[in-house]
Amino acid sequence: MFKIGIITASDKGSRGEREDLSAPVIREEVSHLGEVVEYTIVPDEQNLLEAAMIEFCDVKGVDLIFTTGGTGFSPRDVTPEATMAVIDRHVPGLGEVMRLESLKITPKAMLSRATAGIRKQTLIVNLPGSPKAVRECLRAIMPALSHGMDILKGRAGECARKE
Ligand code: MTE
Repeated sequence: MFKIGIITASDKGSRGEREDLSAPVIREEVSHLGEVVEYTIVPDEQNLLEAAMIEFCDVKGVDLIFTTGGTGFSPRDVTPEATMAVIDRHVPGLGEVMRLESLKITPKAMLSRATAGIRKQTLIVNLPGSPKAVRECLRAIMPALSHGMDILKGRAGECARKE
């Protein structure tokens, strides 16, 4: 079981002007992967997002971070930039699969710039902001996520050669 952190990027949420309906969806969809041990809402400011990610990774020892929000085209949407600034290794496939599967549901899926990457021993995954998009994107990546986490944490030696 993994230690999971959730970072909601939302100007209104951080001011208490909007209820965070996306984090509960993440909790529900990932409950089989581990326990949500850290949660925060931060405004859409790159330095604050970076600081939250670094704290969860380096101080709190979180294994898996999901961000929600701030992946679109608004000038305030900087979650992918914050993620790219703190990771050591880029994991483009997770964002690609989210868009691939989500495009079967809505053409607006192409507007999310969500990405993912590894900082030391922690995987950081961006999700869009709406609860609906969160659920759809998590379901898209779930088939391979725990295997990737097992490899990252050294719990799976190698991938099966034969499928
Ligand atoms: N992905 C899925 N699966 N379902 C959705 O409804 N909405 C899109 C997209 N990705 C959506 C989705 C929309 S409308 C936008 S603007 C972008 O995500 C960016 O969302 P964000 O700025 O809240 O991160």
